[in-house]
Formats: sequence, structure tokens, C-alpha cells
Amino acid sequence: MVTIKKIKVSDLRVGMFVTEPASSWLSTPFHAKNLQVSTPQDIEQLKEHGISDVYIDTEKYVEIKPQEKKEEDATKNEKDFISVELSAFRVGDDVPVDIFWRDQDGMPWRIIKSGRTFSEEVMEVCRGSQVTNVLIPADQEGLFERYRRPIVEEEVQREKIGFSDKYLNPSEVTAYYNFMDNYHSITPVIFTAGERLDFTIFIRLENNVTPALEKGERLEEKTLGKWIEEDANLVIRKADKEAYHAYMLKNVKDSKDERKKLAFVRENSRIIVESLAENPRSEKLMHKTKESVTSITDMIIDQPTTFYSLIKINNYDYYTFTHSVNVATLSLALAIAAGITKKDGLEELGLGAILHDIGKSQVDRNLINKPGKLTPSEYKTITHHVALGYDMLKGNKAISEVAMTPLLQHHEKLSGKGYPYGLPADKIHTFGRIASIIDIYDALTTQRSYKNAFSPFDALLLLSKNENDYDKGLFTLFVHIIQNQEK
Ligand SMILES: [Fe+2]
Ligand SMILES: [Fe+2]
Repeated sequence: MVTIKKIKVSDLRVGMFVTEPASSWLSTPFHAKNLQVSTPQDIEQLKEHGISDVYIDTEKYVEIKPQEKKEEDATKNEKDFISVELSAFRVGDDVPVDIFWRDQDGMPWRIIKSGRTFSEEVMEVCRGSQVTNVLIPADQEGLFERYRRPIVEEEVQREKIGFSDKYLNPSEVTAYYNFMDNYHSITPVIFTAGERLDFTIFIRLENNVTPALEKGERLEEKTLGKWIEEDANLVIRKADKEAYHAYMLKNVKDSKDERKKLAFVRENSRIIVESLAENPRSEKLMHKTKESVTSITDMIIDQPTTFYSLIKINNYDYYTFTHSVNVATLSLALAIAAGITKKDGLEELGLGAILHDIGKSQVDRNLINKPGKLTPSEYKTITHHVALGYDMLKGNKAISEVAMTPLLQHHEKLSGKGYPYGLPADKIHTFGRIASIIDIYDALTTQRSYKNAFSPFDALLLLSKNENDYDKGLFTLFVHIIQNQEK
């Protein structure tokens, strides 16, 4: 059944899902695509951009209940917003209210939906835009107050007793690090029903695990189907990683099943990059990393419609090496879309992208995954991962200078406000421009807790607010890639 319908913007209602304007997408802002109309203001903005007709997907209509509708209507007037300090929101918390910024014309734009996690990456975007005050809908002031009051009281109390790391519950942090030390996340896609594995598989629930399939036990079809269908959060003991890798090389590498083959490329790359981080001077491991980048490149060229689904597999946690493979995959996809060919150095871009955060393995792990706000000196320490990564790899003859660009420049910004060098736009290489967009996008859409990560749409919307930091042409192209994949 066809569910796409063309209608007039004047007939749009809150709750409808706009797939795209009925005009060239190039001439319209990207936020007019795949838009779930959530406020009357959304409709007004489409009109302001001169869009008269849109395509809607009737199947994706979300009915707004009368009570919610009243709330939404209330956000359309200027006086219905109040200004609050951005610093009122605590890094690591889920924001209790919708957060708006003003665009260049002074129009309020929602940039963060309530319920999303205010992560360090969100903070990084805000720092870049130098926003100190934001708007919240006046009718959400009560929610904001209820959120804010206990924080203020807690801060006062903790300051009195001289508790410096005021955002953290130490026992939760220890449990989290113990978990990260002892387990390795895996994907169910690679298994076949009826097999008996020589390692135990666990299901993870926060920082606890329960055995889901004991070593040697038969994997029933029903169990496997359920894992895949629910995208179960599965882990194995770190000590079993070699056995898992060996299993994949023997049973999955040459599989005829495309989905398994793609999952293999991803899982294999993660393990190889992790080994290289432990042994950065190994030319053999660098060659293996190159091979895995070649497989990723071929995968994107051969399977442009399926590679993206792999990025989303087991994105339950911010594992540095999962992020590394995601950044390489999306960087290559963007480069290919931008017309960069193998001859122009795709493999070098991919290699640099997959290694971009390798220096994080040299930074105190207590900081890398710290679940709360970083102090200025902690933030500074984390920024050292760029130079540390470069130092780790510069002695390895199997990596070229140009392949180092994504690593060296992935935190640089075209506005000159990036780090470590604060390079001006004309000194930032295309590979650096690509890596900087992809790096923050992946960090925003993955995050610590799956349910509160930014949706692709919301992540792109947030980044679009800092358009001076990113290469406009590449950003628009990337938005187009994500839109096509999300359809
Ligand atoms: Fe980084
Ligand atoms: Fe990164």
C-alpha cells in the first residue's frame, strides 16, 4: 500500500510526518525532510521557506493527544519562552525540557528534545557556538524547576563537605569500569542456529550480565531469532575474545550470507584496531588494519544500501573501537559520495579515520568514559589524545603522513575554534573536514545509553546550528546520505 501522499502545507497538522518538500531538496533546508511535525511552529517554518506542497507518509502519523496539543500550541509565541543559563543543565543527565536556540533571524529553534542525554559531545557543540543562555517553553518551567532544585541543593551540600567530584556516584563508576574491563560486546548476527560455541554468551543489563548461552550448549533457532530481532545487548568475557575472533575467521569470513559477511567486516576490524592500539609499532597489525579498511571500502561500494544498518548494530555503549569502525565507515561513505576515488586516497582516509582516537588508549581510562562533567583540566587531558595518537603511530613505517590527517585534524573546526592547533579553515584538509563531521555525529548518536542517544535527525539538527564549524558542502552531502539511509 502506498502511504506517501502530496498535500498542501496549509493542510499539514501537528503529528504528520513530512518525508520531503515537493520541491528540489537542494533549495530547501534539510530540516524540512523526514520531519515529524511536532509544533505549529514547524508548519510556519515550512511556509517561511516558501514551501507550498510536501509529501507526507500517512503511516507515520502520530496523533497528538488534546492535552499535549495545548502544550505544543503554547510554544508558538515569543512570550511563551523563558531564558535559562545553559550551565543549569548537568552533563550526563537527560534534559527534562525541550531546549531552543535562536537562529540568525531571532526565531526560536528546538535543538534538543526533552529526554535526550546532555552529553560531553553536546557540551562540545554548545562551547563551539558560544551559547550561554537557551530558551525553554514557559509551560515547562515547572519541570525545569523540579529538575534544577535538587541539583542546587546537592551542589551546596557537597561543596560544604569538600566533595570534589560532585557529579558521580563512586560505586556506580567502579561497577562500570569493572564491566568495561571484563567484557567485550558482540553481535548475534554472525551465529547460525544449531551451533555449539566454545565460549559463554551473556546478556547485559546496565553493568550486570546474565548467561544467555553456556559454553557448549546448543544455540536454538528461537533464541537466535529473538536476539537478532531484539538487537540484544550481548557480551562475552574479554578472555574469550580470541576464541570469538577465531570462530569468526573460521565460520563467518567466507559466509555466503551478506549480512553475516558485513557483520564480520565490522567485528573483525574492531578486534584488529584494538590489538594495534596495544602494539602500535607492529607493521603486521598495520597491514591487517589496512586490509580491514579495504574490506569496509569494498563493502560500501558494493552494498551502498546495507552498510548503514551495520553502524547501528550493538551501538549500546561508547566503546572506543566500535566508534573507530563507525567513523571509518561513515567517513568513507561521505568521501565516496563526494567523488573521492581509491586513487585519491580513500584507503588513507579510512586508515586515518579508523585510527583517529587510538591515542585514547594512552589517556587515563577514568576520564575517557567518565559519566559526568569533565573539569577544565580533565577536558584538557582528554584533548591530548590527538598528540598521543600521533606519537604512537609515527614510528610505524606502514602508515603515511596523509593517513595521519584524519587523526590530527578530527577535532579542528573551520571556525578556528577546534583543537589541538586551532587551525584556520584553509589549513584543514578534506580528510580532516570529513572526520570532524563524522566523529561528532557518531558520538552524539551512540552515547552511553542507547535510548537517550540523539536520533540521526536531532544530531544533524544540532550540528547545523554550528554551520561555521563544518564544511558546508560536505555537511549537506552527509545529511543527504543519512536521510536516504533512514528512509
Ligand atoms: Fe577524538
Ligand atoms: Fe572520536
